[in-house]
Amino acid sequence: MNDLIQDLQSPVADAGTGFVRVGMPVSRVDGRAKVTGEARYAAEHPAHDLAYGVVVGSTIARGSIAGFRLREALAVPGVVEIITHENRPRMRSFDLFYKDMTAPAGAPFRPLYDGEIHFSGQPVALVVAETFEAARYAASLVAVDYLPQQHETNLMAHLARSHKPKPLKAGFSPPPDERGDAEAALLAAPVRIEAEYYSGVEHHNPLELFASTVIRGEDGHLTIYDKTQSSQNSRWYVSRVFGLGKDKVTVRNPYVGGAFGSGLRPQYQLPLAVMAALQLRRSVRVVLTRQQMFSLGHRPETLQRIKLGADHDGRLRAIVHEAVAETSRYEDYVEVVVNWSGQLYACDNVKLLYRLVALDQSSPMDMRAPGAAHGVHALEVAMDELAWALRLDPLELRLRNYAEQDQMKGLPFSSKALRDCYEQGARRFGWARRPLAPRSMRAGSELVGWGMATGTWDAMQMFARAGAVLHADGRLVVSSAATDIGTGTYTAMCTLAADALGLRLEQVMFQLGDSTLPVAPIEGGSSHVATVGSAVAGVCEKLRKRLFRMARRLDNSPFAKARFDEVEFAGGGLRLRRQPSVAMSVEEVMAAAGEARLEEKYLMLPKVLKQKQYLRATHSAVFCEVRVDEAFGTVRVTRVVSAVAAGRIISAKTARSQVSGAVVWGISQALHEETHADHRLGRFMNHNLAEYHVTVNADVGDIDVIFVDEDDRIVSAIGAKGVGEIGIVGVAAAVCNAIFHATGRRVRSTPMTPEKVM
Ligand code: MOS
Repeated sequence: MNDLIQDLQSPVADAGTGFVRVGMPVSRVDGRAKVTGEARYAAEHPAHDLAYGVVVGSTIARGSIAGFRLREALAVPGVVEIITHENRPRMRSFDLFYKDMTAPAGAPFRPLYDGEIHFSGQPVALVVAETFEAARYAASLVAVDYLPQQHETNLMAHLARSHKPKPLKAGFSPPPDERGDAEAALLAAPVRIEAEYYSGVEHHNPLELFASTVIRGEDGHLTIYDKTQSSQNSRWYVSRVFGLGKDKVTVRNPYVGGAFGSGLRPQYQLPLAVMAALQLRRSVRVVLTRQQMFSLGHRPETLQRIKLGADHDGRLRAIVHEAVAETSRYEDYVEVVVNWSGQLYACDNVKLLYRLVALDQSSPMDMRAPGAAHGVHALEVAMDELAWALRLDPLELRLRNYAEQDQMKGLPFSSKALRDCYEQGARRFGWARRPLAPRSMRAGSELVGWGMATGTWDAMQMFARAGAVLHADGRLVVSSAATDIGTGTYTAMCTLAADALGLRLEQVMFQLGDSTLPVAPIEGGSSHVATVGSAVAGVCEKLRKRLFRMARRLDNSPFAKARFDEVEFAGGGLRLRRQPSVAMSVEEVMAAAGEARLEEKYLMLPKVLKQKQYLRATHSAVFCEVRVDEAFGTVRVTRVVSAVAAGRIISAKTARSQVSGAVVWGISQALHEETHADHRLGRFMNHNLAEYHVTVNADVGDIDVIFVDEDDRIVSAIGAKGVGEIGIVGVAAAVCNAIFHATGRRVRSTPMTPEKVM
């Protein structure tokens, strides 16, 4: 095993950081590299003799290409090549293999495959030049003749032709069969509500643009810096599509500037950059523009209908939840939208339906808490509507319907501290003082409202490997081909390893972001800490045992009679639990044993049979205060308390940042973010950060994050469940419910922009 990939520039904590324990609020080990600009992102890696590719996108949404007029563009000084479907290299794998995998899980839309146009913005040419400026200018001169066809991009106009999705995506669960008789139970219920909820298209907008720098070595080896949530997924994809052996391609992503799901599949700049590098036999970089980022995929526009029936005391008798979402013509993009409505509350009669409408646009894409961000939103607004219909406190309604077990199979939860979330969140917020009726609170010219909602997300674990090398000088290098999209993977893994061996944080380096490192899954589904963290804990446990055995065998060893469970790893080495003065540092043990390095590997396989006996999920309770100016319809979110149950928290500071960041995004979803399409053109129009409104600091008031006690050894050996996505679920619903409480007005469409609120 490589014990250190030197040029990966893996970050290490500042000297003097010292000893840390799991659960402590540790500052990011990659923080300094990021704020000083030392951390290099995919488009920032230098290469000798680098050519620059700029993508030309289709201006029509559907049809075909009749031809190109390239003379002017080719005449621009510095232009090397313009690659289109007409002149791209014939590559056996690309032509044969890729043909049948239009967009398999983990693969992007196939760019430059043929002359068919499937969506506006679809890449139709790659202009390659000696400089970025020349490529960009020449790209503006590329003329394409299209044979347009009638396109359909408007979900609301084509609801009638919805279809049942083909579940192509691994891990996707279609809605379960009906439980009980929901419609009959609904009719029999004394209290009923029914409503439609609409959510517009949202785009990911990570700060870092999608980019691939393909560096071609003398021997033809490709080292690719790619913006992706998995270096190994991109490596696999490039190998497969271009017929390049595993040893011919290395993909790296040591730093990723946000992704939120948009990097779960390689994006089209990767195959374009590789295609150009192979054809031109030189290094090539392709960076997308912010506008082009809007053609990669998005959170799908979704229309939902929910019917709830309850007894007078608030007990749920029936839940009917239907969702229709959009997808592309070439792929059924699926997400779990309605299933949580059969899981979150105790109810015997539940009917869940999920359908898609295929439109002439790019496939939607997973975006932070895909499905739940819409589905649980609608359910939680509907619950608030039911609470008001019953004149019951919204939190009390949730408590009366608390699910003690899985509603489908009767399985127990692996852990579920949602009651603690409700209790601690409500106390911190001051919920008990909430008047029941809307329009009861005012501050100056503004109406004040308090709303709450529940959140839930799956607690997943995949498999992973980790390697570790302990050096004689006490440095520990742990590695796995994991990814840190800004969530804190480096920090969490360093913390786990430093704690396991009792080392100072600055003694530990975690290497991630290189496809040659031990196998790790894609960073997605909030499963990375539970997965990679368990592999890191596993490899560290092997090192601990090795070190202990070595120490015990030393001449005159102070541990000669000790058992493994009688020592602890702390203070830079191992010591007797009962007599901490009996201690040896790692350096002392290694020196005495004459070892230069200790190396271990570990394969972490989830305990699937055990896990299947439980329902595994994270939970949250979100409490929110808004102030509404009725004259203008403006909403300010002045206070949010988010209480989260996500298992054992490994890295308290980065976890808190995840949840507060997710709350900010939830506010954004509630009030600001929406991509508008002009359906005459079949195109997203506000494709930039000036017109696509994202919540900024001035839009955010107090955010208070609580992690309630939970420790889930069924989801993961380290007790963690994952915090990446749970933080956003329920936030927009809490805002919506607070707006109702402030104004008495129910806004059933997001974003809740002023014209809908006033
Ligand atoms: Mo997440 S949407 O699984 O990156």
